[in-house]
Amino acid sequence: MRFYLGLATTFHDPALALVGPDGTLLFAEATERFLQYKRAPNCEPDAPAIIAPLLREFVPPGSEIVVASTWGEQFSDFLKGQAQAGTFDLPTLAAHPVDLNASFVPEQAERVFIADLHLAQARAGLGTLLALTQDVRTGGRPPRARVVGQRRYAHHLCHAAYGLWGSPFAEATSVTVDGMGETGASAIHRLKDGRIEEVKRHRGRGSLGFLYGLITDLAGFDQVKGEEWKIMGLAPYGRPDPDLAAILACLYRVEGTRLRFADADTIRGVAAELLARRPADALEHGWADLARCGQDLFGTLMDVLVAEAHALAPSENLVIAGGCGLNSSYNGRVLGRSPFTRLHVPSAPADDGNAVGAAWLAYQEDHPDWSGPPEEARPLTPYLGARVSTTPMERLAEQEPRARKLGHGAVTREAARILAAGGLVGWVQGQAEFGPRSLGNRSILADPRPAGAKDALNAKVKYREAFRPFAPSILAEAGPDWFEDFADSPYMERTLVWKDSVRDKVPAVVHEDGTGRLQTVTAQRNPAYAALIAAFRDLTGVPVLLNTSFNVMGKPILHTAEDAILMFYTTGLDALVVEDWIVVKDPAMIRSA
Ligand SMILES: [Fe+2]
Repeated sequence: MRFYLGLATTFHDPALALVGPDGTLLFAEATERFLQYKRAPNCEPDAPAIIAPLLREFVPPGSEIVVASTWGEQFSDFLKGQAQAGTFDLPTLAAHPVDLNASFVPEQAERVFIADLHLAQARAGLGTLLALTQDVRTGGRPPRARVVGQRRYAHHLCHAAYGLWGSPFAEATSVTVDGMGETGASAIHRLKDGRIEEVKRHRGRGSLGFLYGLITDLAGFDQVKGEEWKIMGLAPYGRPDPDLAAILACLYRVEGTRLRFADADTIRGVAAELLARRPADALEHGWADLARCGQDLFGTLMDVLVAEAHALAPSENLVIAGGCGLNSSYNGRVLGRSPFTRLHVPSAPADDGNAVGAAWLAYQEDHPDWSGPPEEARPLTPYLGARVSTTPMERLAEQEPRARKLGHGAVTREAARILAAGGLVGWVQGQAEFGPRSLGNRSILADPRPAGAKDALNAKVKYREAFRPFAPSILAEAGPDWFEDFADSPYMERTLVWKDSVRDKVPAVVHEDGTGRLQTVTAQRNPAYAALIAAFRDLTGVPVLLNTSFNVMGKPILHTAEDAILMFYTTGLDALVVEDWIVVKDPAMIRSA
């Protein structure tokens, strides 16, 4: 039997995905979850501690493994070309030849970027080999599986493969936009008859992803920490300042359907001019006017790329892939601004998702008749990660009388009752979400009705900036009653505008501009979560819960029941539910089920 292990091998957001002998996606998870290290920079996705239990669970003895990684040979060609031109020297690149004491220098940052990427490619698959040889070392047994191939796929092709094959569409056009691929920062692909073809690859160093990252830094945040999305949250608080917009406009020009980005000197000049204008408190609170202008600019430039994609590969169906696909604010508007009528953005559009794309590409290479997952498996479920053990809850119950196992119906009713009474509930069920959003399996939940719920959650658990909105989960069938131009949004991939008439019913999840980054929930996609929201609706008349990721600021989403218990006792959570178990802090909350 042959398995396909996809490894996302960018030096940030590494991840792995395992595809079985019949093409089924068995597992996908970002490395940060296992390590509990946000974005897991420079960590290998298949460290032996991660891959060994996965192989034991899914791969029978005697199997074959093909390792597929997410940067193509073109990246190596690029490095060789640069080395020949004298720009980089590969051996010294690998040793990080930068002055660590120097202040930020763009050229050095680029060298570190390329060195990290080079090292990440060089290590791809080593962890798996080590885990397999462990069998030989420890027990004298032959390895349970053999690595029979190591393949590489172009970065943007991996983004497109994951986005297109994971979509509900039989045919579609994808626009991939990120920081950088092997030769450029955006690409257009088409899905037709189950096959993915490249329509256009943009070339050059100009990058909408990097431009958004620059705006993130200039507005007082940190793109290295992945804080680009704070720009989206802050933008509605800013005003569209024509002076700032004019300065930003120096960074690009539109030629027909093409974007041309400014040269490095111009970018430096723009950065200096903006820094000279930056308000003194920007590092503390962010620079809202720049965030607004930056987000508006992002929309303008994305429109150019999307329009070109439709012109070159006309379709009703659009897929947005790459890290810029996390811009839910733009995603919510794109259908009104382009000829496309339906949109899919995968749950993990950034580089972690590429692990799935690479594994599927390798599978199709060996099975040319395979045309993507079967219809019933699309759109792809986001619940692809690890489960938690309930053993820690059993141990807790031995000492904690307020911890009980209730059965699923009863635990759902209890949690809904606590939520309706204003309690904060940590909710852990099933397999973890793949991608950055908690979608009801690793979530902190709250009643969206009190206007003060957002501040209470920030004060008790999340400790994050006041301007950042909290998102709603809504039963899909209720969506048209609550949102303008309602569209299904299973992964919190888009923000839509709340209807005027409902905004004062759920003020905690209505953002400054009247929008919400919604998750639409169905019993088919997530039965446990749909049942909880339905139970809350039965008590309150509101089919909406406030849903935020089960983590604390600066940490990844939790990975184990022990993590959940630790957070429960060190934050202001009122109740914790893990599968059929519940524990509460206030004895008055206990009600016999
Ligand atoms: Fe990417």
